[in-house]
Amino acid sequence: MKMRRSITVTVVSIGILAAVAVPAIASYGGPTRPANPTLRELGARTGLAVGSAVDMAALDDAADPQYRALVASQFSTVTPENVMKWEVVEPTRGTYDWTKADELIAFAQTNHQRVRGHVLAWSNQLPGWLTTGVSNGTIGTTELRALLKKHITDVVAHFKGRIWQWDVVNEAVSDPWETPPIHNKGFWFDHLGAGYIADAFRWAHAADPKALLFYNDYNIEAFGSNNARDDKTQFVYDMVKGLRSAGVPIDGVGSQGHLGTQYGDYDTFQVADALQKFSDLGVATAFTEVDVRSVITPAVAANDSGEVNPRIQASAFNYSVLMQACLSSPHCISFTVWGFTDKHSWVPGWFTNPPEGLATLYDQNYQPKRAYNMLRSDLLFSGPPYVLPRIPQEPHNG
Ligand code: XIL
Repeated sequence: MKMRRSITVTVVSIGILAAVAVPAIASYGGPTRPANPTLRELGARTGLAVGSAVDMAALDDAADPQYRALVASQFSTVTPENVMKWEVVEPTRGTYDWTKADELIAFAQTNHQRVRGHVLAWSNQLPGWLTTGVSNGTIGTTELRALLKKHITDVVAHFKGRIWQWDVVNEAVSDPWETPPIHNKGFWFDHLGAGYIADAFRWAHAADPKALLFYNDYNIEAFGSNNARDDKTQFVYDMVKGLRSAGVPIDGVGSQGHLGTQYGDYDTFQVADALQKFSDLGVATAFTEVDVRSVITPAVAANDSGEVNPRIQASAFNYSVLMQACLSSPHCISFTVWGFTDKHSWVPGWFTNPPEGLATLYDQNYQPKRAYNMLRSDLLFSGPPYVLPRIPQEPHNG
């Protein structure tokens, strides 16, 4: 459809000069939106950093230039999907390999992006020398604690000044489907007791006092019963509250945001309430690993639109709920997706029974999906009075 213009047209006809007035349509005075705004441009309107986890193999694949171009153009923050994990940075005891992580930091600097450091104390992707040493008894408790301190100190010091937010402790709490009540769990808890959590934050803060230090977990997008026996979000809330009141330098709670369309939906207000409660403790919040996967039934695999479309739409809806909730809280400082294309997503490799996928913003061929445009429209429509500029978090000094 063509736009009508409010102009006066001068018609020259057979030597006669005549002015013909075309009815005017009021022209709009305000700024026009860019034709195809990126996520990072739209996020910048309210100071919200929009990010993605980055798969370094894809970033470095010369045959896949779209991946690199989209990381640079769409996002204002990046998270290494794997290359800052312990098994990658210290595959052999005492020998660090920073190659890939340093490469991502350089890429981020070139593209004016901030970096979320991921991850310091976690049960997964630990080097074999460490887990074997613990299981065969050659690494005892005192040495293990010293190793965790050294790991956190060395890694944080290596990247000092270049990391905006660190995921210091990741996934340290059990799930409602495990043996109740909800409890601390995992490799570090089993061997060192719950005190490792406060220690990890203190060690990280000592090594880089300017980095924002986060506790990061999944299934904490909304509160449930508000009883910490069966409500993981409440358990994490109580834990963070306890750490803050003990003067532990924790600055943020990362809500991973790994959702699935088969589980039913949260609504914006439920998620916004959770963010608000956490920020009332004095911490920033962030969505750190958002993706919304679906079960790939045989009909989905056969591209049956009757089964594909509801999944695509439900995925977009869930992305939007998390984004709107984040926008509603000025302490929600970043929104990061865990990969942005189905071509490079951890979901199909991880969730295999039943098979799951379709979790990201772009399809296998880098075509943007409904979820991508939902995020852009949420950002486009955001502004005062309900969506305010982000309030920068200052590191907590106890
Ligand atoms: C995942 C990566 O995406 C995979 O490539 C890897 O094989 C396993 O880890 N929660 C986290 C992330 O905090 O570090 C995990 O990343 C996904 C779940």
